[in-house]
Amino acid sequence: MKKAPIIALDGYSACGKSTLAKELAQALGLIYVDSGAMYRGVTLYFLQNHIDPKPSPEATSALASIHLAFRKSLDGAANELWMNGIRIEDEIRGPTVSSMVSPVAAIPEVRRKLIEEQRLMGAQGGLVMDGRDIGTHVFPDADVKIFMTADPLIRAKRRTEELRMKGEHWRLEAVLQNLAERDHIDTTRKDQPLRQADDAVVLDNSNLTRKEQLEWALRLVEQRLRVGD
Ligand code: DC
Repeated sequence: MKKAPIIALDGYSACGKSTLAKELAQALGLIYVDSGAMYRGVTLYFLQNHIDPKPSPEATSALASIHLAFRKSLDGAANELWMNGIRIEDEIRGPTVSSMVSPVAAIPEVRRKLIEEQRLMGAQGGLVMDGRDIGTHVFPDADVKIFMTADPLIRAKRRTEELRMKGEHWRLEAVLQNLAERDHIDTTRKDQPLRQADDAVVLDNSNLTRKEQLEWALRLVEQRLRVGD
């Protein structure tokens, strides 16, 4: 029997990858995995334990004490991240973690550990995973690869609004700068930098609604899976 498909969704920060990945997974009956959440989990642990966000023997040995797991939310609607038996879904979305996650994600040992775990999750197929290196490195044989991008100002406005809804008031310029810094670190780091896989299809959603981008992605998936039959 053919393995269930793997859909890789990569792209810049705050492009709406997780929104699309979640909706795609739901529409196709696949599992959604937010690989960025795992880097955020490690970052939270580093913050809690005063570990510098750079390669060091201390950072490497801390990794053995970090056990990450996705569990269904109480209403069953979402996959939430837990670390060492504690739900950390809210903490990892805050600005403190956001401002430190890119340097932590650039530490080779951190990447090695998380990529190994991500590949285990995908061993049986059947998932949509979003991140930065999913189509290029984690699952180079993914059945469908999407590379998402959007105008930086539109991304910053969307993120500012998202933070506002959570009761956090950030200046647009500060969000714009945080996104630019993260893009820079993500695209220039030595190991598995963010780049478009040769066989990825670009989705610029600057001027698309949620519904339009989902329809676009569903058409692409249908096309690709038909060709792959
Ligand atoms: O998607 P996100 O913003 O939650 O990701 C948080 C950070 O983790 C982002 O700055 C880059 C890093 N990341 C990564 O390096 N590789 C991935 N597959 C996913 C995220």
